[in-house]
Amino acid sequence: MARKIIIDTDPGQDDAVAILLALASNELEVLGLTAVAGNVPLPLTELNSRKICELAGKPETRVFAGCAAPLSRKLVTAEHVHGRTGLDGPELPDPVMPLQDQHGVDFIIETLRSEPSKTVTLCPLGPLTNIATAFNRAPDVVEKVEEIVLMGGAYFEVGNITPAAEFNIYVDPQAADIVMKSGAKITIMPLDVTHKALTTRARIDAFRAMNTPVGTAVADFTDFFERFDMAKYGSEGAPLHDPCVIAYLIRPELFTGRHINVEIETMSELTLGMTVADWWGVTDRAPNATFMGDIDAEGFYDLLIERIARL
Ligand code: BDR
Ligand code: CA
Repeated sequence: MARKIIIDTDPGQDDAVAILLALASNELEVLGLTAVAGNVPLPLTELNSRKICELAGKPETRVFAGCAAPLSRKLVTAEHVHGRTGLDGPELPDPVMPLQDQHGVDFIIETLRSEPSKTVTLCPLGPLTNIATAFNRAPDVVEKVEEIVLMGGAYFEVGNITPAAEFNIYVDPQAADIVMKSGAKITIMPLDVTHKALTTRARIDAFRAMNTPVGTAVADFTDFFERFDMAKYGSEGAPLHDPCVIAYLIRPELFTGRHINVEIETMSELTLGMTVADWWGVTDRAPNATFMGDIDAEGFYDLLIERIARL
């Protein structure tokens, strides 16, 4: 039976590749996409979510708009990485498929209440505002979650938006704190993993060589996305952060990590949004998450290329 997931997202080229990977994979049943403000403001992330579903040839996928701003901070966006639209690179047509009327947070709550307990996995690929709002508003749904597999944080790699913090956590540290303390089963794909999932010329060429609209779009996404990280890190390519979440659901054996305590810094101006991960077990704080540390990047790209070719 396919595993039921809700993708909570702020597309984002790497979010787009994650969504395409999920929609191409019959191990997964995408119950819906909930958009959140993050890389770009909410009107763009919900629009981009629908563009991606249509690109995948899956216009029946339900897309909901969630929260437009973090719980208690002003929104910080990342046009410097993703471009003005959040999805710069390919020219994608304006979507015809509708946005659902229901608020994304209500959809998350209703789905967790109506599906059998522990059969729905949440896949946050952006700031955790929608998930934390759902947990605040309906604490009963927390124990119904099968697992939360999220992209966010860093330990050895430290920060990408500030010297100390990764973008998704930094944008809404209060939300991340609520999720980390919720008691739900949590698996984290931090920068420590995603910075090893780098595009290379050969990998981008493999997408382009598919000669399909989706293959070409993925090559254009990754070509665009690459520029920023190559200039910043001097790396061979760009990290495909968010697809790591979906790949984990399909091929967990590609990843290794540790079940440890992870806390979020919510007070300090200097280190706001830092994921304080007890990787070395130097405290007696109880483990609350599986924090991944390594990835089989070859296996990851083999999976991605095989699945994107299906669309
Ligand atoms: C995360 O931030 C966003 O820019 C990406 O989409 C990813 O989810 C990486 O820090
Ligand atoms: Ca994202």
